[in-house]
Amino acid sequence: MEEQRYAVVTGGNKGIGFEICRQLATNGVKVILTSRNQSRGEEAVKKLSESGLSDAVFHQLDINDPSSIACLAKFVQTQIGKLDILINNAAEDGLVILDVKEFRDGGGFLQVVDEKAHLLSNIIEEPYELGEKCLKTNYYATKKVTESFIPLLKLSKSPRVVNVTSGYGHLYWFHNEKFIEELQDIDNLTEERIDEIIQWFLSDFKVGKLKENGWPLTVSAYKVSKAALNAYTRLMARKHQNILVNCVHPGYVITDMTYQTGPLTAEEGAKGPVMVALLPDNGPSGVYFHQTKIAPFSIPEFASFVKAFYEGK
Ligand SMILES: NC(=O)c1ccc[n+]([C@@H]2O[C@H](COP(=O)([O-])OP(=O)(O)OC[C@H]3O[C@@H](n4cnc5c(N)ncnc54)[C@H](OP(=O)(O)O)[C@@H]3O)[C@@H](O)[C@H]2O)c1
Repeated sequence: MEEQRYAVVTGGNKGIGFEICRQLATNGVKVILTSRNQSRGEEAVKKLSESGLSDAVFHQLDINDPSSIACLAKFVQTQIGKLDILINNAAEDGLVILDVKEFRDGGGFLQVVDEKAHLLSNIIEEPYELGEKCLKTNYYATKKVTESFIPLLKLSKSPRVVNVTSGYGHLYWFHNEKFIEELQDIDNLTEERIDEIIQWFLSDFKVGKLKENGWPLTVSAYKVSKAALNAYTRLMARKHQNILVNCVHPGYVITDMTYQTGPLTAEEGAKGPVMVALLPDNGPSGVYFHQTKIAPFSIPEFASFVKAFYEGK
């Protein structure tokens, strides 16, 4: 008989995270659905239970709070004794949408391209403080959660870490040659260097030097946070060769993060992360998935991959 698998999902109370919990539970995985807000998390577990998935349990987790992470790790250690799957899904976008109607009518994030940055100032704003917080949550807090669960993942027979990233994290969106070169050079990249690169971005962001130094002009901090997460995924895969560590872009999904825009449902968006969480032991590690398909890290290959993907080839 197959051993029972256990998963922790961050930001499991809504959106793609909730759907990941539902699909993992449907696949027989015992899910610890986490949420920073107790009542929202308990409500989500109740919703799963009412649909016949009564095995999921709730545990509070604010990924920005180290004591909350430690409390969850202690819970998993004492109640289960190992962890099989960690899904780092919780994130924030670092943006304020000033005019939601205009944003939706204009095509949502499809209109948010660097070439049109100057036309978007009435619709979308990226205050420095939100950008800084976005990097803190999406990169540093995700890293802290991962590090806290590595010892428990090492006790699993088939450990998996799935980092829910974004197509926006692809190097394709960057024009800063040094940044691109360093993040691609995984053999020489270190976590310390990623920290330095983030600080370099933040100081440029603060003084308005994004264009001058080749950073993205739109959704800037979020793009840097996910690019850093992708690089960290590759470093972790190299460091922990017995754990499959991958990152997955779920697609453009209708959730609160996208102000209810996008072509995909949360159910469709969760398919990639769930597939990667359930990869067989001989599956890939240190890889970027565009929904359910492996996509390249390099820019020209990625551009043609995305074109072919949307043309259904
Ligand atoms: N939707 C898309 O089109 C899209 C595209 C690419 C990538 N993604 C990625 O997919 C993932 C899920 O996004 P979504 O679209 O489902 O967004 P969402 O509906 O806004 O859900 C985000 C989740 O993250 C949680 N969260 C935020 N900060 C947290 C913290 N400090 N501690 C714990 N939980 C926290 C939120 O909790 P609260 O409910 O308490 O706020 C919520 O549960 C994210 O990693 C996102 O970057 C989404």
